[in-house]
Amino acid sequence: MMLKQIIVQGLVKNYMNGKIQTPVLRGLDFSIEKGEFVSLVGPSGSGKTTLLYVLGGLEDYQEGSVLVFDKELKTYSNLEKAELRSKKIGFVFQFYNLIPNLTVYENILLSAVLGYQSSKEDILKILDIVGLSGYESYYPSQLSGGMQQRVAIARCLINEPEIIFADEPTGNLDYENGKKIMELFSHLNQSLGKTILMVTHNEETTTYASRMIHLLDGKVIRDERKLR
Ligand SMILES: Nc1ncnc2c1ncn2[C@@H]1O[C@H](COP(=O)(O)OP(=O)(O)O)[C@@H](O)[C@H]1O
Ligand SMILES: [Mg+2]
Repeated sequence: MMLKQIIVQGLVKNYMNGKIQTPVLRGLDFSIEKGEFVSLVGPSGSGKTTLLYVLGGLEDYQEGSVLVFDKELKTYSNLEKAELRSKKIGFVFQFYNLIPNLTVYENILLSAVLGYQSSKEDILKILDIVGLSGYESYYPSQLSGGMQQRVAIARCLINEPEIIFADEPTGNLDYENGKKIMELFSHLNQSLGKTILMVTHNEETTTYASRMIHLLDGKVIRDERKLR
């Protein structure tokens, strides 16, 4: 039985610049099933980031419907949206977004405070999963980019999200570090069963995904599933 976690139908999103309306998402239809690893690709400006923000309840939309965990996003209250983002969906960004004057441990703890309460053991266990055992007292500036991205992934994992949204998570990393981060996402998907929706524009990283959705000018132009 396939469990659909996200169902998008006829999604239209416009940005308003003064009185000028700029269409960004122009009628999208797709759904995402539990356990998929979806790579969202397309040229700069095609609407990839906007789509993640809409699906995460961070941006509204003008037409169509977006069901997230069987509930239309438009009917989520602000509190429900905040809970969705703190407990059900984890976000990972290109530039990590860690708080510089907090240690690795404190960065993760802060996220845990917003979501579920976690014990010290939970945090240490998650640091182990991302390959950062022993680094809990380090500050972000003492870590390489690849390690900082691991902290950001640990931070998103602490509240046990069902879906992880990642926006070009390897975009700031060299090839080797990027590859390690992709292997970590692959592990989260295959071993921990996390659904992943990841924006990438490096075609190589798409080898880890089970499906590729191609966006162009706010439309899905191709949607391919791979056997793996
Ligand atoms: N806050 C905003 N206000 C107005 N236009 C925006 C805003 N954010 C993005 N856009 C426009 O929406 C389009 C899609 O942007 P984006 O979703 O960031 O694309 P991608 O992530 O694929 O590069 C672009 O044309 C961009 O200029
Ligand atoms: Mg983007």
